[in-house]
Amino acid sequence: MSDFVYHASSTAPVNIATLKYWGKRDKDLNLPTNSSISVTLSQKDLRTLTTASCSSQFTKDTLWLNGSPHSMDTPRTKQCLNDLRTYRKELEASNEKLPKLSEMNLHIVSENNFPTAAGLASSAAGFAALVSAIAKLYELPQSASDLSIIARKGSGSACRSLFGGYVAWEMGSEADGSDSKAVQVATLEHWPDMKAAILVVSDDKKDVPSTSGMQLTVQTSDLFKHRVEEVVPKRFLQMKEAILKKDFETFGELTMKDSNSFHSVCLDSYPPIFYLNDTSKRCIKLVNLLNEAAGKIVAAYTFDAGPNAVIYYLQENEEIVLGLLHKIFGKLQGWENVDTAKLSIIDGFPVNLIDESWSSGVSKVILTEVGDGPLDTDEVLVDLKTGLPKN
Ligand code: DP6
Repeated sequence: MSDFVYHASSTAPVNIATLKYWGKRDKDLNLPTNSSISVTLSQKDLRTLTTASCSSQFTKDTLWLNGSPHSMDTPRTKQCLNDLRTYRKELEASNEKLPKLSEMNLHIVSENNFPTAAGLASSAAGFAALVSAIAKLYELPQSASDLSIIARKGSGSACRSLFGGYVAWEMGSEADGSDSKAVQVATLEHWPDMKAAILVVSDDKKDVPSTSGMQLTVQTSDLFKHRVEEVVPKRFLQMKEAILKKDFETFGELTMKDSNSFHSVCLDSYPPIFYLNDTSKRCIKLVNLLNEAAGKIVAAYTFDAGPNAVIYYLQENEEIVLGLLHKIFGKLQGWENVDTAKLSIIDGFPVNLIDESWSSGVSKVILTEVGDGPLDTDEVLVDLKTGLPKN
């Protein structure tokens, strides 16, 4: 390839909601029926790295995901590219010296540092990295909130991955979605001691994809109306306040209650949707027993549209939270960076209840923490001579 290949790379994080997005008022624009809140997780453990490149020699927009080619011809991806090109065109119109990148085809190469098979929401990190990398390539002046509006059209939850720390997605009220965007509630530095243990639960059955699952809930669940009108609006304010005050007990209680509420409206859908399995339910029981023994909330579970448990806890309680998890899941992969000699089982925990069966169904542990938003990187995944993925 003789011609010049313009390129830029960016990484983006996974986020796990503590107040769940479930339901759309506009399917095409991914406009939600309620506002939501999430914690951004550290990219040391979970991230998508994307290189966006463009050249007058590229004959069509192409995407490679973890080594294999993927279509960019989906309505969601097309909307993201259109929006980004529109912003770039505005720049080019204001300064004629700028190269006409908006008219060139894109080659996008994207890689996750975690197995897609783990069933962790990779679309959020994926769309956030795609939007961030192209915005960087195009040198767009738009803010992270403006870019979150574009990522939202790729996948709703992706808008929250445009920020680090603690993030809210404000549902907005405009029909065109121009006010349905992510904003930062608090930075990583504000409350840096938030940890997350992810128990990856093996799952044979294929879950109902979240997009169709939420449509079914909106159409058929009576409980859903109560959730979006009464429950979530109050919780949204309370959870933001708990984060600002670094009040883990309130944060944890709301997180667990909201996970329960979300899975209740799934069960109330017709036909019902089940994301939690018996292993997930054992994880819930474990967290409840731990909190009971501690006499306060030291750990909070939450589950997305699948059986994996995400358990939030604070650094100061690491010894007892991980002490228990290590006793049960210590043989699994994921403990490499933990000084297990420092861990202990909390006094008063009914250890006699725990037997071999408690570890069954969990395949792996991922120990992580609150992290940063999208980051620039010099790593380049595109071979600048051929315009194809390097590996
Ligand atoms: C349960 O963002 O994957 O994880 O907008 O259709 O792409 P689409 O859905 P998606 O749904 C995420 C649902 C959830 C809750 C949450 O992350 O808030």
